Amino acid sequence: MSEQNPKISLRSRAWFDNPALPDMTALYLERYLNYGLSMEELQSDRPIIGIAQTGSDLSPCNRHHIVLAERVRDGIREAGGIPIEFPCHPIQETGKRPTAGLDRNLAYLSLVETLFGYPLDGVVLTIGCDKTTPACLMAAATVNIPAIALSVGPMLNGNFKGERTGSGTIVWKARQMLAAGEIDYKGFIKLVASSAPSTGFCNTMGTATTMNSLAEALGMSLPGNAAIPAPHRDRAESAYHTGRQIVEMVRADRKPSDILTRSAFLNAIRVNSAIGGSTNAPIHLNAIARHVGVELSLADWESHGADIPLLVNLQPAGEYLGEDYYRAGGVPAVMGELYRAGLLDGEALTVNGRTVAQNIAEAVIEDEDVIRPLSSPLRPAAGLTVLSGNLFDAAVMKKSVISDAFRARYLANPDDLEAFEGNVVVFDGPEDYHHRIDDPALGITDRSILVIRGAGPVGYPGGAEVVNMRPPAALIRAGIDALPCIGDGRQSGTSGSPSILNASPEAAAGGGLALLRTGDIVRIDLKTRSVNVLVSDEELDRRRAENAENPFSGPESQTPWHEIARRETGQFAGGAVIESAVKYQRIA
Ligand code: FES
Ligand code: MG
Repeated sequence: MSEQNPKISLRSRAWFDNPALPDMTALYLERYLNYGLSMEELQSDRPIIGIAQTGSDLSPCNRHHIVLAERVRDGIREAGGIPIEFPCHPIQETGKRPTAGLDRNLAYLSLVETLFGYPLDGVVLTIGCDKTTPACLMAAATVNIPAIALSVGPMLNGNFKGERTGSGTIVWKARQMLAAGEIDYKGFIKLVASSAPSTGFCNTMGTATTMNSLAEALGMSLPGNAAIPAPHRDRAESAYHTGRQIVEMVRADRKPSDILTRSAFLNAIRVNSAIGGSTNAPIHLNAIARHVGVELSLADWESHGADIPLLVNLQPAGEYLGEDYYRAGGVPAVMGELYRAGLLDGEALTVNGRTVAQNIAEAVIEDEDVIRPLSSPLRPAAGLTVLSGNLFDAAVMKKSVISDAFRARYLANPDDLEAFEGNVVVFDGPEDYHHRIDDPALGITDRSILVIRGAGPVGYPGGAEVVNMRPPAALIRAGIDALPCIGDGRQSGTSGSPSILNASPEAAAGGGLALLRTGDIVRIDLKTRSVNVLVSDEELDRRRAENAENPFSGPESQTPWHEIARRETGQFAGGAVIESAVKYQRIA
């Protein structure tokens, strides 16, 4: 146990041991004594450590944190701290309507208020399901008290008739099978449910595994923490060490701003490429960076991440799942491989006071089929491509999931990712898409490009996860399982669709997608990273004027937060943060 830095006075003392304000001190003390803490403990100069509990019956992905918190408490106590567990606003990715995307910023606000307003000297962030990780890290970045993330870990591997079924990813496959008449409704549900056999987050390389891996890559959790499956005994051990570590962090005054440097973010961008991370990662990482005051833009994702090859062979880009990822060495094995090739900044500091290089010194790949060495990657240059043109200023595409069949069908030179053109079919929001996708009158062919707009954070509260649109059932039956898609919404990180998404600005915020008409020809050029509608500027101006008379409004807001979020939230390219929150930095 390291000695308390004599210069550090615990912020909780302002509540519990403040001779200048005896009345307030008495009030604060008596109420916390109420649950069984003693005066001696609260005035003993021992760090008060919050456990930000994101698990609940409403949040099954993170629910195992309720169990793990016991081991976190043990670690905190043993290291000399006092644990205080409190609930966070629930975010359940698949259960929240209209979309869990809405709740990231709400949970962020709520956690900022809690960390700022209560007598906490440090906090354990219990991360897991997609948005819980960024919400927690964004709040820790804003408040800037010592903070450490504990992942809940992925579920065990799903299995159906001897084949791995990955959570989320299997849905895309199952709905194609249902549309093609290969399975019925009951078979569909059974197949999907097989992918989720235990407590924990999605076992695929979706947004959850991505963000937990990136929390570790950023240095915000203990090495090896992200990949341990939720039910595994190592997970409880990691919880215990996390509890011990946060007490040491308070004593050393090691804060998020010391760890979340630009170097740390660039490391995370590179790791994101190597793991085949979710297209939601830039939104969340850019948001964390903005709240901690680090310059980070989509251009950084292109310049630092695009050339990094795909090493992790997990669904949806590959074949394996979470248990395999852990056994193959998890994030330290990936980072070790990148670091030895000079692709990471080894000097970046992490929660345990050690550098990235120190943490991964011993890390090796244990299974080269699951985590490939750089010498035989799954795909070269697997990072996100950032595209722009006359339809938007920035949108991203995950090249690592472009299948060979898709390449062969659409790209003149599949290895070279050249350009293709197609007629667009435009949908205004998710409901319009769901109603009309199978309408033969749309005339969708294998040369069509599907476009969805009105799906960004302003057009659709929270931004809809819909850009990976399935082709009409008739096309699927003819063997076309994916069409090129473009949209101002997001797509699930578990989807293997090579969509162009997160277009900013979105149609509802004046973006060019609002000017598209069904039948227009759009040219997508992956070499020049451009997407343009082949329509004259004069015609686009004419349409702009026409739209101004009849502006797109999207669905009505249904709750107060829908309205507030649509008014206050910025675009995906800037992390879709609450813009007015960014100026509040290091407020502890
Ligand atoms: Fe919660 Fe995937 S739905 S982690
Ligand atoms: Mg999702």
